[in-house]
Amino acid sequence: MAKDFIIAGIDIGTSNTRTVIAQQIRGEQQLRIVGVNVTPSIGIRRGVIINVEDVAKTINEAVEGAERMAGFPIKQAIFNIGGSDIGFASSKGVIAIGRADGEVSEDDINRVIGEAQIIQLPANKEIVHVIAKKYRLDDQDNLKDPLGMKGVRLEVEALVIESSSLQVKNISKAAYQSGIEISDLVLEPLAAAESVLTKKQKELGVVMINIGGGTTSLAVYEEGELLHTNILPVGAGHITNDIAIGLRTSVEVAERIKLEYGSALASGVSKDDGIDLAQLDSKEDDVISRYHVAEIIEARLEEIFSLVQKELKLIGKAGLLPAGAVLVGGGAKMANIAELAKDVLGLPIQVGFPLGFGGILDKVDDPLFATAAGLILWGGKQPEEKRVGLSNIKAFKMFSRPTGDAVDKVTGWLQRFLP
Ligand SMILES: Nc1ncnc2c1ncn2[C@@H]1O[C@H](COP(=O)(O)OP(=O)(O)OP(=O)(O)O)[C@@H](O)[C@H]1O
Ligand SMILES: [Mg+2]
Repeated sequence: MAKDFIIAGIDIGTSNTRTVIAQQIRGEQQLRIVGVNVTPSIGIRRGVIINVEDVAKTINEAVEGAERMAGFPIKQAIFNIGGSDIGFASSKGVIAIGRADGEVSEDDINRVIGEAQIIQLPANKEIVHVIAKKYRLDDQDNLKDPLGMKGVRLEVEALVIESSSLQVKNISKAAYQSGIEISDLVLEPLAAAESVLTKKQKELGVVMINIGGGTTSLAVYEEGELLHTNILPVGAGHITNDIAIGLRTSVEVAERIKLEYGSALASGVSKDDGIDLAQLDSKEDDVISRYHVAEIIEARLEEIFSLVQKELKLIGKAGLLPAGAVLVGGGAKMANIAELAKDVLGLPIQVGFPLGFGGILDKVDDPLFATAAGLILWGGKQPEEKRVGLSNIKAFKMFSRPTGDAVDKVTGWLQRFLP
């Protein structure tokens, strides 16, 4: 019988936690988004969980909002993992092909990737992704997908991405406390890239830059392959703090100044333009220079793009990505950001929107939803046995989430992190 699937993604961000619930309907190519929620985050600093209880509360609120919209509850979700404490290692795996006729099967590919996972891990790190870069089958090298080919010995060269054990542990605890099972963890920039980059851009060479509240993450692709990724501990929230310090206003007023009057390019703002702070807060009476605000914003964003440029230099790709840079996250919505990014990076720039959904809801059609939408698309690629059928979900019972109910359903290595 035709069966629909439910996929939920929870993007725990420094500023906001976003939940998206999608339905995969048999016979339809694209996922349909049926539930969306944005909840301000508490308990997170620069992408790192600093208070598990607060994050659990945030997840609860974010999930309940999205469930209410979807009309059914969720039991499990794919979560992002952020925080700049990530590590990388190159690794190799080798196996003998299992089948007697020498044809490479799915199982061989999983086994060889499993071999590549066996590395000496630093004490405080966990593997979150093992990304196959290329395969070698006997003497045929540089293979992208050896499935179905014939040979004896299969080798993989892989990029292992590690995250802080503490962060993995804290996400697991927070999810557990909110009664949601983690079906997968995806590094934030890889999730964001999943939803906004096209196959063609990844083939040509592109960098996805996600400017969040507390972090800026990037993912570089070329010839369809992930070349590099990183999470830097500076984001658009730092602009707000800079404005608050520079103009001696409260953080709330600084945030409003940034959103309502901000520009990434001071040169485009008249020096005579003033902002009457009394309009934003009755306790204020100053009129401040809009040009000065733009100078503050430009300085911080220039720093952020210079840090990204440093990463690109590190891999020899500065100025050399024909499909340019795709900007997402809240910071990408700053007025004139594309001009500034172009100046610093020397690349064509565009602002990215989530792609690949049928009937996308207006709310999700936004650079702010790149990560959450990417988590859903990531889930859509999982094998069927890992997915949840709509028929498995009981009738909609109003939010008596059974705390801790998820524990015995958590599989694999995540289990170790549960209390
Ligand atoms: N229209 C806008 N113009 C400028 N900045 C914006 C706009 N909308 C949101 N922002 C800023 O974007 C930031 C939040 O972005 P986002 O929601 O992507 O971050 P996050 O995912 O919570 O954080 P992180 O990914 O760093 O953990 C805030 O600093 C906010 O002020
Ligand atoms: Mg984010």
